[in-house]
Amino acid sequence: MAVAPFLNELEHTNLSTWLRESPSVFGFYFVLVFHTLGLSLVVGPNVVIDLRLLGLFREIPLAPLKRWFNVMWVGFCINAISGIFLVLAYPVKALTNPVFFLKLTFIAVAVWIMQRIKKQVFDDSSLAAGVIASNARMLAMSSIALWAAAITAGRLLAYTCSYLVYGVPCE
Ligand code: HEM
Repeated sequence: MAVAPFLNELEHTNLSTWLRESPSVFGFYFVLVFHTLGLSLVVGPNVVIDLRLLGLFREIPLAPLKRWFNVMWVGFCINAISGIFLVLAYPVKALTNPVFFLKLTFIAVAVWIMQRIKKQVFDDSSLAAGVIASNARMLAMSSIALWAAAITAGRLLAYTCSYLVYGVPCE
């Protein structure tokens, strides 16, 4: 597979080399810990809201769950920033792997659905009267499926890469 030379240049920058090779605890694995923390903050509350919309936990009032959208956006920002550092650490590994782009697509659609749930369910004035948008169940099921796909694709990145670094194939 032809790899764009600029990825090789990117991989030889001081930051990329430090992230990849530094023995410091603040190197690659620290970033991966933040990435895992971020995904728990964006996916965890989202799935709780989805399950509530699917009819589980009916004893939990729906309207107050609106506050969790801010937490989900904090989680997403943590993952966008830590994700960029993960790419910077191994740019060839990530950017030559089609699963990486599939993962970003799942995430983009999942975030779009997350915003549609907020707008159509939580920002709808009829929620106060206990009326839930008719397509809430479909949105909730799509959301769970997309986050499951994003996490699975994220986990599979380590097993589906072609190159670890420029010129070095993944084993
Ligand atoms: C909310 C959104 C996101 C979720 C749920 C997510 C989820 C995951 C998961 C589950 C992993 C596997 C972690 C592991 O091996 O322990 C992963 C790895 C990774 N993610 Fe994300 N991610 C998100 C956003 C992003 C973004 C925006 C980027 C890039 C801009 C990104 C880049 C990466 C990279 C490069 C890896 C591979 C790390 C490695 O080499 O092992 N992620 N992600």
